[in-house]
Amino acid sequence: MRVIYLDNQATTPCDPRVVEAMLPWFGARFGNPHSVEHGVGREAAEAVEAARAEVAALLGVEAREIVFTSGATEANNLAIKGFARFTGPGERRRIVTLATEHKCVLESVRDLEREGFEPVVLPVGPDGRADPARLARALEGALLLSVMAAHNETGLLQDLPALAATAHAAGARFHTDLAQAAGKVSLALGDWGVDLASVSAHKLYGPKGIGALFVRRRPRVRLAPLFSGGGQERGLRSGTVPAPLAVGFGEACRIARAEMAAEQARIGALRDRLLAGLRARIPGLGLNGPIEGRLAGNLSLRFPGVRAASLIEACPGIAMSTGSACTSAEIAPSHVLTALGLDAAEAGATLRLSVGRFTSAGDIEMAIERLGEAYAGLRAEARVACADGA
Ligand SMILES: Cc1ncc(COP(=O)(O)O)c(C=O)c1O
Repeated sequence: MRVIYLDNQATTPCDPRVVEAMLPWFGARFGNPHSVEHGVGREAAEAVEAARAEVAALLGVEAREIVFTSGATEANNLAIKGFARFTGPGERRRIVTLATEHKCVLESVRDLEREGFEPVVLPVGPDGRADPARLARALEGALLLSVMAAHNETGLLQDLPALAATAHAAGARFHTDLAQAAGKVSLALGDWGVDLASVSAHKLYGPKGIGALFVRRRPRVRLAPLFSGGGQERGLRSGTVPAPLAVGFGEACRIARAEMAAEQARIGALRDRLLAGLRARIPGLGLNGPIEGRLAGNLSLRFPGVRAASLIEACPGIAMSTGSACTSAEIAPSHVLTALGLDAAEAGATLRLSVGRFTSAGDIEMAIERLGEAYAGLRAEARVACADGA
């Protein structure tokens, strides 16, 4: 049975064009991009710089503001810990974030408490946003605000220019985790006043193992590096830049920029068909968050009366998830869904379905069919169990 892949927010398949672009860099073009004394190294260095320019163009910033990392986890750690440590816990000690952020942001913020900073993790309303008055109060005396651009579970899109302006009004800097947004929504970080932003290649049809951090130059944001070493990436990220992965990341960004508008319209239409098809088959199906203002490919759905884990088990032909990839090892309900006000039963009945570049209309029809049947089967079993118990 062909598996229908509806977990594009956990990771995306590498686009064949990206694989094609990377292949020579695993073969004859093997140079170290930092060995610029000779042609073999310079060729790799030029390819890395071309890739850097593509990443920058996708974000709407300058190439020299991009630092390559291993992914968004590292970029988030570097942004938050690096900025706090460079500045030091002086008069401004607060690092503010939201309860619905990715674990790597929440843990980075919390880790800084041991170094004399004051982590502030704000609750969100059912709409996934912080109360503006509460946010403004939390930002008094803050160093940094970190809020992700597009949510990994609910797809919620935040207003980045407004958040940057709010942070700046309080004298704080603004970091955003773009892992889910880059390549999906158009970005102009330079104009929007964002100070730091994290990206991951494997969420935008690029290879796993590479990402980037945007670090604003004007006004300059200074960071303390996480690693000691050779001082690559302007001293911010020591270690040899993996040229093949950088080339793939650059190509993925180039494709995303060229195809984003048409692709997101197509993905949005498929997502809407999936929702309509499931609603027609599953009475009481719930959507977490409004349909507007979310990523085109995202659905976070509550299947009444069943456990999402049982539905996944009953549908081996569909790849989907109960939460973000990074929380799926946990038995506890997603910290995001509970922060949004869902009770344990509702969170346990929630599935994230994410449509992507390689999802076809046929996949969507098949997914509606299979999920509808599996849901009906589970409900019938529950009724039999209930009757037996009576
Ligand atoms: C919002 C968000 N931030 C960070 C990450 C981590 O990204 P990476 O796998 O590149 O470390 C993810 C991946 O699940 C994510 O969705």
